[in-house]
Amino acid sequence: MEKIIIYGGKPLSGRVRTSGSKNATLAIMAGAVLAEGRVTLHNVPRIGDTLTMVELLNGLGAATHFSDRNTVVIDSTHIHCLEAPYELVRKMRASFCVLGPLLARFGYARVPVPGGCDIGARPVNFHIDGLKRLGANIHIEHGVYSAESRRLRGANIYLDFQSAGATQHLMTAACLVPGVTVIENCATEPEIVDLANFLKTLGAQIEGAGTGTITIHGVERLSGGEYSIIPDRLEAGTYAIAAAMTGGDILIENAVGEHLRPVISKLGEAGVEVTEGAEGMRVRRVGRLHPVDIKTMPHPGFPTDMQQPFGALLSIADGTSVITETVYESRFRYVNEMNRMGADIRVEGRTAVITGVERLTGAPVTATDLRAGAALICAGMAAEGSTEVSGIEHIDRGYENIVHRLQGLGAQIERSVPEEQ
Ligand code: EPU
Repeated sequence: MEKIIIYGGKPLSGRVRTSGSKNATLAIMAGAVLAEGRVTLHNVPRIGDTLTMVELLNGLGAATHFSDRNTVVIDSTHIHCLEAPYELVRKMRASFCVLGPLLARFGYARVPVPGGCDIGARPVNFHIDGLKRLGANIHIEHGVYSAESRRLRGANIYLDFQSAGATQHLMTAACLVPGVTVIENCATEPEIVDLANFLKTLGAQIEGAGTGTITIHGVERLSGGEYSIIPDRLEAGTYAIAAAMTGGDILIENAVGEHLRPVISKLGEAGVEVTEGAEGMRVRRVGRLHPVDIKTMPHPGFPTDMQQPFGALLSIADGTSVITETVYESRFRYVNEMNRMGADIRVEGRTAVITGVERLTGAPVTATDLRAGAALICAGMAAEGSTEVSGIEHIDRGYENIVHRLQGLGAQIERSVPEEQ
């Protein structure tokens, strides 16, 4: 079984480039199903999840390939299969979001109940209810959602929670739905804005992305187009935390400070210096880390995806921190692994009480999901001795060449099987 091995204790230094946003790319690739014509996407991260999405789109009959390392070309003109395979949807939740676009364009689609990272219940009721509001008939049988309707129409949709996935899914589907669709209490993440900007380059009419209400005027067809994905704020945040944990000094090229406000603010509270400049974000830590309390919230609150790496950081702070996870109930599964490395973290329900320790010590640990993996890598880099991280298929889903990039920052880290460059 492949592992990542880290010999910790070396402060990171140098420059690292941020890849394109995973979560924006996945939503945009699902949105490309709407286009009649060729879509060229630049700055696509070459990671497990985007490769899975390429496979899914090809399975539907869209001609999709990486034309170079970070450019994907998708031609959905001749989509002929309206059913997504279980093996892919089980692996990656974002693949569920082809249901609405297929339905809107072809009047019919079948997609299995999705899987993905095991971080909580993760139902899809907002997606299904929203599509029903647009006039879809949807039923579930043998684990597969079947949706059909030749007569979709614009509608007002109120989301009970600012779900990123449901906002993206419904906004995308509504582009080809006649009439006006208004999505209220929607998510406002930068990835939502990126998806809207992409869809607009194809001819969609969308207003309000990035605010709590999005309005979509349905159009008859969308054409091809060319688009470049925004930098990944969660990857940038992970490198920032790694630098802070090791007492390092790094420049994260093209990280967008505006997308990282809550993380930058909490890093500042913890005693980490973050400066934003034209080339990116410099992260530096000289003194001890201070304890910080965090509550995860939908954007623009503190992102749940950064909760795990930040928990690793606070495990070596000078005092006690409290983290409250309000978005995903099972996102504390990394805590057992952190405690194996000498951390002192106690979880009660949705709260983790982190008593900072002087030092972590390397140990064999297992990544249970993507960001848990990121947290363990950050911890391993700050720990004394060697840490062996298993379950790295989770990490490969979301971080492009992470070992190579950290080596570039001076970390002593390697894979038991060398990384493809
Ligand atoms: N929810 C429902 N019903 C729904 C949809 C969501 O109850 O129909 C609940 C979820 O169970 C959760 C909350 O609403 O408690 C938020 O879920 P959301 O829909 O916003 O999450 P998502 O779209 O499934 C995306 C990211 C996640 C990220 C979350 C929150 C992608 C592919 N995934 O998931 O990213 O944690 O938003 O920001 O965009 C990751 O990158 O590691 C990752 C898991």
